[in-house]
Amino acid sequence: MKIQQNFSLKSYNTFGIEVKAKYFATFKSIAEFYEISAQYPNINTLILGGGSNILFTKDFDGLVLHNEIKGIEIIEENDTKAIIKVGGGENWADFVEYCVENNYCGIENLALIPGTVGASIIQNIGAYGIEVREFVAEVLTCGEEKYSNEMCRFGYRDSIFKQENPKKSVISYVIFKFSKIPNLKIEYGDIRKILSAENIENPTPKDVFRAICDIRRSKLPNPKEIGNAGSFFKNPEIQLSHFQYLKQNFPELPSYATSNPDKIKVPAGWLIEKAGWKGKKIENIGVHKKQALVLVNYGNGEGKEIETLANQIQQSIKEMFDIALEKEVNIL
Ligand code: FAD
Ligand code: EPU
Repeated sequence: MKIQQNFSLKSYNTFGIEVKAKYFATFKSIAEFYEISAQYPNINTLILGGGSNILFTKDFDGLVLHNEIKGIEIIEENDTKAIIKVGGGENWADFVEYCVENNYCGIENLALIPGTVGASIIQNIGAYGIEVREFVAEVLTCGEEKYSNEMCRFGYRDSIFKQENPKKSVISYVIFKFSKIPNLKIEYGDIRKILSAENIENPTPKDVFRAICDIRRSKLPNPKEIGNAGSFFKNPEIQLSHFQYLKQNFPELPSYATSNPDKIKVPAGWLIEKAGWKGKKIENIGVHKKQALVLVNYGNGEGKEIETLANQIQQSIKEMFDIALEKEVNIL
């Protein structure tokens, strides 16, 4: 447990932004977390996982604590279900692969999402019609609090930890519950198309996992090659009346139903593309050419430049569609 000073965070954020932390340390256990925190009682602290949902716009004038709490423990298992306790510092994508290998079902749709198990809870990660909330039994924190699924107040890219986090809770472990009986969700996007192109009539969770990995690799830039943090904005939910008005000018505007019959979700990527931003490059940064919802750093870009671009996009979408896009990425 070493505390480092003026530590470069470039390889600790998937945008690849060169900023420094005044102090940096890793913690491998709750005890280590408290040991380090006790040395810096009143300092501004950032808990860092994989840095795949953060945009640094300046040096971090405080203590960055990198979560490395590991471990996968089977709490209970029978022929039909499993309850598994996982360290918050475990890699999410590796955990999904482990589940697919061991027949813990449903989570295959959340393949290849970067980051840590602990952070998956913060914004209730989701993809291909599934959200992590569906598998969460309990969330444990370094402060020894226990949050039931209901207490987490999960929503679309949202949870109590993102909304307020009044106790500044640090997620130490997540307890997941899985069915061992497959219940595939393959209606979303191109999953079915890929499976039928491969002549797979009775797909297994492994087949769905592979199909989703293929789709993601074809659309989303690999942060190891081009810096990014996935979707920069949330998909907005707008009033039905507003949607009907927009449809008159933009008949091809796609939409998804929500649980509220008065609200419609529209893809932000479509709006951003329609407004002419897709593929736009401004010096070292830009809007990805295959996915307009993803802002990218081609190398040596600065966080401030990406933030400015994001603000310009928000303004342009407001002017063109009267829709206020909300940022999904945490800006620091
Ligand atoms: P970080 O970026 O390190 O942290 C995110 C926030 O959580 C910060 O505020 C941090 O302080 C806080 N935090 C982190 N760990 C803890 C903890 N243990 N306790 C308390 N607070 C904590 N997201 C999706 O939902 N769906 C997708 O399909 C998806 N695809 C992506 C694709 C790419 C290529 C990329 C780069 C990102 C994608 N994301 C997606 C976003 C991102 O992967 C997720 O938000 C992920 O859960 C972030 O994990 P992380 O460990 O990197 O978090
Ligand atoms: N679209 C365009 N142009 C674009 C991008 C998208 O027109 O450049 C339109 C298309 O109509 C497409 C629709 O948007 O059919 C949806 O696109 P896609 O399936 O790529 O998904 P998304 O809405 O852009 C969301 C999540 C992703 C998640 C995918 C798959 C949000 C903010 N984003 O993206 O999550 O992986 O669905 O489920 O909800 C993330 O949160 O970081 C993330 C990558």
